[in-house]
Amino acid sequence: MGPTDPRPRRTIAVISHPDAGKSTLTEALALHAQVITEAGAVHSKGNRKATVSDWMEMEKARGISITSAALQFEYAGHVVNLVDTPGHADFSEDTYRVLAAVDAAVMLVDAAKGLEPQTLKLFQVCAHRGIPVLTVINKWDRPGRDPFELLDDIEREIKLRPTPLTWPVGIAGDFHGVLDRRAGEFVRYTRTAGGATRAPEEHIPADRAGEAVGAPWDEALEGHELLTADGADHDQDGFLAGRTTPVIFASALLNFGVGQLLDLVVELAPAPGATRAADGSLRAIDDEFSAFVFKVQSGMDTAHRDRLAYARICSGVFHRGMSVTHAATGRAFSTKYAQVVFGRERTSVEEGYPGDIIGLVNAGALRVGDTIYAGPPVAFPAIPSFAPEHFATATVTDAGRWKQFRKGIEQLDEEGVVQVLRSELRGEHAPVLAAVGPMQFEVLAARMDAEYRAPVRLETLGYSVARQVRPDQAARVAALRDVEVLTRSDGTPLALFSDRWKAEAVERMHPDLVLERLPASGG
Ligand code: G4P
Repeated sequence: MGPTDPRPRRTIAVISHPDAGKSTLTEALALHAQVITEAGAVHSKGNRKATVSDWMEMEKARGISITSAALQFEYAGHVVNLVDTPGHADFSEDTYRVLAAVDAAVMLVDAAKGLEPQTLKLFQVCAHRGIPVLTVINKWDRPGRDPFELLDDIEREIKLRPTPLTWPVGIAGDFHGVLDRRAGEFVRYTRTAGGATRAPEEHIPADRAGEAVGAPWDEALEGHELLTADGADHDQDGFLAGRTTPVIFASALLNFGVGQLLDLVVELAPAPGATRAADGSLRAIDDEFSAFVFKVQSGMDTAHRDRLAYARICSGVFHRGMSVTHAATGRAFSTKYAQVVFGRERTSVEEGYPGDIIGLVNAGALRVGDTIYAGPPVAFPAIPSFAPEHFATATVTDAGRWKQFRKGIEQLDEEGVVQVLRSELRGEHAPVLAAVGPMQFEVLAARMDAEYRAPVRLETLGYSVARQVRPDQAARVAALRDVEVLTRSDGTPLALFSDRWKAEAVERMHPDLVLERLPASGG
């Protein structure tokens, strides 16, 4: 790739409720496209090597998940960066950060299950961040729900107007292909054994489709006409503004509709654009280099016990080895060891363009939300952290491992595995961990044990609500009954309450105290 003439970028994430088919689709996308990152392609659940993430059994069981970063592939003259998101709802905070790094999201919906809790949360996060969403109704090869019902749910529950680009020919479980609503033709799919290779797609003009497939075509045509009468046609401005969502019907397992999805990503998803800085100014993509860190992870692979900060390039061209400035500290920063990472595979990255994801190795100082840049200084807005709803104290079980305990807690805090809260009252030996979902505690405990050899004892605290307090009022809030004030590692004082009613009672009784709500995870 020439430094002056990069191929256009599309940077996307696939999001879904667990089991909707995200891993299957990721593999199918890689199969259709040409994987650029020489990563031995995507790992399938079956043949993952034991070293991938032996630090965490629960992750191994799930396949592609929270250790992966970004898969880069070429399709139709474009470079697509597919940024991976964690599957479990307890990691919604991670997902939120990942969504800060993409320009569009592909939402997978299981044709039989329809909208599930995590689907709703993720749609809300996309709406909140203004990320355009392409919807894929997956598993159409299996019995499922009525397509109009699925669309109604999206419109009612998510307030996004669905605009199907394809319409299934055959009910769920009897998938012949789709009616391409814009071309007006029938795209016939043919099964291949186990979906192991690209599924053949045959394009048949409308006047011959009826004879080719019979009654299902007439039904599809009827559906298409109903949609047209209802005005449910693709609207690019509506899609970009987050008012509408284009919908296609697919079977990731059989590779049906995967090529179409790639075509749509290239055609409809926005190219990387200018990024708004914290001071409101815009960093244009052809300005000097800048990037922001959206994920920090360490110890993900026993073969590479190091720490990676993943950054999305916002502007300019990245050259490995270039010196950049870390906005938070003003310090210069070497990028000699920049890598691209997907799963356990790593390769050095020589160059990167806006929209690409780079992994910076052992970038000790970098935190989630940090900006790095060359040339004129810039700092992008911090990624807000969610309101934690679960709290526990952590203590080391073996006093001889205290130093490792402290280091582990500090590093996992930096990665955002949990938030760490401290107070003089509780002291250094029993920090309070705060999480959006309880599984974050399990991850922390497993990693403290495996990576730092510092097993921890966690004791759940009876709080479920955190509010941000003004530093000058912290002492007054702390003096109230049944309230505890602790400081998050970014310096923010948080007041913890047993429940929302308690917090509201304090607000009523002390109207001059400011108890600011933190962004909710959407649940
Ligand atoms: P996830 O990453 O979103 O959690 O989902 P994943 O791809 O692991 O898929 C969950 C299950 O759904 C898998 O079956 C997968 O084979 C199946 N699946 C995914 N897409 C389709 C599809 O288009 N049609 C059908 N019929 N099934 C699909 P599993 O039995 O749980 O796992 P496995 O043993 O097959 O790997």
